Amino acid sequence: MNVEDLVKEIKANFRPKLKVIEWKGDRLVLLDQRLLPFETRYLELKTVDAVADAIRNMAVRGAPAIGITAAYGMALALFERDVGDLNNALKALELARDKLSRTRPTAQNLFWALNRMYGKAKALVEAGSVKNTKELREELVAEANRIFDEELDAEVRMGVYGVQLIQPGDWVLTQCNAGSLATGALGTATAPIYVAKYLGIDVSVIAPETRPWQQGARLTAYELRENGVRVKLIADTAVGLVLRRRLVNLAIVGADRILADGTVYNKIGTLNEAVLAHEFGVPFYVAAPTSTFDLEHKPEEVRIEERDPDEVRTVRTAHGNVYVTMTDIDVYNPVFDETPPKYITAIITEVGLLTQPLDRNIKRFVAQRSS
Ligand code: MRU
Repeated sequence: MNVEDLVKEIKANFRPKLKVIEWKGDRLVLLDQRLLPFETRYLELKTVDAVADAIRNMAVRGAPAIGITAAYGMALALFERDVGDLNNALKALELARDKLSRTRPTAQNLFWALNRMYGKAKALVEAGSVKNTKELREELVAEANRIFDEELDAEVRMGVYGVQLIQPGDWVLTQCNAGSLATGALGTATAPIYVAKYLGIDVSVIAPETRPWQQGARLTAYELRENGVRVKLIADTAVGLVLRRRLVNLAIVGADRILADGTVYNKIGTLNEAVLAHEFGVPFYVAAPTSTFDLEHKPEEVRIEERDPDEVRTVRTAHGNVYVTMTDIDVYNPVFDETPPKYITAIITEVGLLTQPLDRNIKRFVAQRSS
């Protein structure tokens, strides 16, 4: 079956079970990921402030899901109150963009989505294509829907390209949660796994717990099990042995940002995994849509988010956070790391596999895209 036929078939027949993001006409409904896997609760958001809080406090997380949520957040700027004429609408959107852009600094999809939404609004107003703010906000909802649909399409394609790297019986090492909970669709790192499952290929996953926020333990283990994929949870400290003993055949992780030279920013722990995979000869793949690529910045310009020290001092349990150390111990809590391109076997994107040398192939791909 060719790629287009398979993409069409999967889109028609396969969706992960959990609903993560849903637009309900005048409000955004989000699955609150802080409570998983113990409780399934949804948040109803009606204002830009509420959306910014949900992104900042990680009720919604994962670069693509943050981007999609922020896109709807922009539309909400024109629903939450009567802003008046189109000039005022653009001003309200500028404020919303500023507010939302200050939530999570590393996720490239956030800035990509905000710029796309603001750019769309400005172009519509300047071209005289909308008569009033009500028409503009409907156009913005349509644009956010398009961003969501394009993400789903990209992930199905990543799944179709990525599944070609998986042999029946393989075990895949991942990191954090780069699954449907992080994107609202098939996930990035999990897309090849879900497509394998759809095609009846036997595939299993080893998920590191991913301290401090425990995305691996709380989210990846949960969503894979919910979707019928065999998953084994490990402590982060077991990654070295798992790779040395070849208990996995390959690693697939997601990305929050990928630079033009192929440097990858992803959840803290990815760098350890990549270096160890390289040392022990295990292929290491990154799966990300092209909206995650940042072709403007250099590594020294990328801000790595540092979060609340209590994330490290505590662990999350079904009964809330519990301290595992002194409540005032000094902490360093960077939540992303930076993996140099030499450790990456290839990047799985919606346009195919970008292989080494990554810098040359990313440049070639960008040139093709803009020609
Ligand atoms: O801090 P988080 O949970 O937002 O971090 C998420 C990750 O690091 C993911 O791997 C990345 O965003 C890719 S999600 C498909």
